[in-house]
Amino acid sequence: MSKIDDAPVFTPYTLGELKLRNRVVMASMTRGRARNAELAPTDLHVEYYRQRATAGLIFTEGTWISPSAIGVINAPGLFSVRQVEGWRAVTSAVHAEGGAIFAQLAHSGAVSHPDFFNGELPAAPSAINPGLKAFTSDGFKDTVTPRAMSVEEIAATVADYGTAAKNAQDAGFDGVELHSAGAYLLPEFLNSALNIREDAYGGTAENRTRIVLEVLQAFIAVWGPGRVGIKLSPTLTMGGLGPTDKTIDTYDYLVRRLNELPLSHIQIGRFPSDLSGTPIAALQDTIGYYRARFHGTLIANFGFDGTSANAAIKSQQADLVSFAKPFIGNPDFVRRLREDLPLATSSPETYYQGGPQGYIDYPVAP
Ligand SMILES: Cc1cc2nc3c(=O)[nH]c(=O)nc-3n(C[C@H](O)[C@H](O)[C@H](O)COP(=O)(O)O)c2cc1C
Repeated sequence: MSKIDDAPVFTPYTLGELKLRNRVVMASMTRGRARNAELAPTDLHVEYYRQRATAGLIFTEGTWISPSAIGVINAPGLFSVRQVEGWRAVTSAVHAEGGAIFAQLAHSGAVSHPDFFNGELPAAPSAINPGLKAFTSDGFKDTVTPRAMSVEEIAATVADYGTAAKNAQDAGFDGVELHSAGAYLLPEFLNSALNIREDAYGGTAENRTRIVLEVLQAFIAVWGPGRVGIKLSPTLTMGGLGPTDKTIDTYDYLVRRLNELPLSHIQIGRFPSDLSGTPIAALQDTIGYYRARFHGTLIANFGFDGTSANAAIKSQQADLVSFAKPFIGNPDFVRRLREDLPLATSSPETYYQGGPQGYIDYPVAP
């Protein structure tokens, strides 16, 4: 066995119920190729994910749990029969290559636009405009002031998450990851500036985290232990969604509760900038901070390369490392790491939109 084959990222790993052949994970990427009225995965998706199936584990692009969860043009869902069929073709292709794949289930919350809902307002924890952009069929548009969800609507949304998790099972996935990162619905609930509710879903860490824990319970009811994970981004700053003086307490509470659940993993990003002087200065070493607090599998993300990924696993800071952008231009990213081959660059203009070009036409290394 060569030195590189011995490298930490190439050692197998048991993630919950799954045996992964390496620790190089493909992180979720919205790529905007479900260009059909049903928002169903197509042959393009089958080929895209098949090409990347040598990853130890793939997370799909953020996938809508219901029509009211939509917030990006041409991103697929998991709420209709055609979508389940489309995803089944994807999971079959990945499994035929010996890979593993989780569906990432998403609701865009306030980072959506009335254009997706026949002019109706998007749903969010509170009627506060996050001040971001939504990617619509007419390009990027400013977000609007959303409507606050009723308690009944929260219950219905949790049920939608559960149905989507069941659909993911029917589609042949190996598990599901809850998208609680970026500026979507669940991080909005966790954020004390965007969630000013005075009911059981706002006001305290216990209340702000309630919906996240209810959704995870709904997932676990479908999938059982070791097949459900969550992606978190406590350090994220986007528009009105910045850290507050409640961020650390909220996520500390959440992680304590996550330790009580039979999760497969948490996935969490490093933070590239200086946090000193902010309310979350203690999260500068984000991975180390949550490593010390979360007792299960930790997948580290953000800006890793082979060297830093091996170092993170070797030092036991992380169990697995996920990569997003490197997988766009390098379908054979795992082989390139293994053989120390140069990495191709990719074109940002086709990251979120387009057809086959910039999606399935990146060549493997010679
Ligand atoms: C084109 C693109 C689309 C993305 N879409 C998602 C998504 O749907 N869900 C998600 O959790 N993160 C998404 N991300 C964030 C990535 O999963 C990842 O966290 C981030 O790119 C940092 O990893 P990297 O430095 O290896 O690229 C996206 C990133 C890119 C570049």
